[in-house]
Amino acid sequence: MRVLVTGGAGFIGSHFVKRLVAAGEEVVVLDKLTYAAADGVNLKDVEHEFHQGDIAKDQALVAELVARCDAVVNFAAETHVDRSILSATDFGDTEFLGTRVLLEGVRGKDVRFVQVSTDEVYGDRSGGKPAAESDPVWPSSPYSVAKAAGDMWIPAYARTFGVNASITRGSNTYGPNQYPEKLIPLFVTNALEGEPLPLYGDGRQIRDWLYVEDHCAGIELVLREGVPGEAYNVGGGEERENIDVATEILALLGADPALLRHVEDRPGHDRRYALDTTKLRTLGWAPTVGFEDGLQATVDWYRDRRDWWEPIKSGEFRAYYERQYAARLGG
Ligand code: NAD
Ligand code: TYD
Repeated sequence: MRVLVTGGAGFIGSHFVKRLVAAGEEVVVLDKLTYAAADGVNLKDVEHEFHQGDIAKDQALVAELVARCDAVVNFAAETHVDRSILSATDFGDTEFLGTRVLLEGVRGKDVRFVQVSTDEVYGDRSGGKPAAESDPVWPSSPYSVAKAAGDMWIPAYARTFGVNASITRGSNTYGPNQYPEKLIPLFVTNALEGEPLPLYGDGRQIRDWLYVEDHCAGIELVLREGVPGEAYNVGGGEERENIDVATEILALLGADPALLRHVEDRPGHDRRYALDTTKLRTLGWAPTVGFEDGLQATVDWYRDRRDWWEPIKSGEFRAYYERQYAARLGG
């Protein structure tokens, strides 16, 4: 197969590209190289064809690349909830408009399409059952609204135009190469720098953690065996409170527990995400990396790869960090 991986220079996409290449597939990457792509270094030394472009704006390039491929896996997105609260324009453009441009490229061709989505589209699951694919979407943040809106094209294009498209909905993913704005890489790198760990609110919010390789295995299975028009949950089944994750990171690094700071909460903060993964397990998928092992591997990677994250943290990240945290951390 030749597979077009959009957003392939980012965190999960780059792991997915490596996985496909290792499986003997040909990979074409289309990526805008936003701040989250770490200047493209995640795909250094990986054999692939690369194109810089925007899935929402570069229709001609999308059409040209899709015409040469057997499948498209769409990872391209703005992905950070806190940034979506500051401004959601790019989220709407990439997630909603961009997904439609890709589906228009695929329409009428014998091309498989996988939309990589998130458990956040189901909204807050506190006090309720884990979300099943048949549950309604009820997103709470501008990010999850944009993701849910993008997803909505898939069943419509499958039903109306016969496009061979499915959706994956992954839970909170962690591992090497994650831009250090999300909880785990931010807290690991802050702890390594002796900087405070800004925990929102009471820190008792729950996320279901999924190691990046397990997430990629789930997406690959859906690519190969998913039913058109259907969604598949990909959840690690490792629910943890944020405060416990933070405490474990500090312990693994032997860092000072006093670095943990409770700060002003995120507006609209979902208390819990949880997924029912029966459907994907029926296809043969199960997570293989437990949270403790995955966190240890992730902490080790960030400890060894300061060359990867130190340049990121001194660049565009600095201005964002000031805006997001300076007042919360008291100047
Ligand atoms: P990321 O932010 O690390 O990478 C996103 C990539 O998309 C970047 O390389 C960026 O340059 C590219 N991109 C952004 N806008 C683009 C555009 N308009 N055109 C082309 N490329 C564009 O994100 P990630 O964490 O690897 O997430 C990948 C996908 O997985 C996203 O769709 C996200 O919603 C989904 N997801 C992520 C998680 C998680 O915990 N990280 C969980 C579930 C689902
Ligand atoms: P995050 O990694 O941003 O993922 P998401 O919001 O998509 O789940 O956040 C994970 C959890 O960690 C979420 O409950 C918010 C919390 N959090 C903090 O407490 N402090 C932080 O600085 C960040 C970035 C997140």
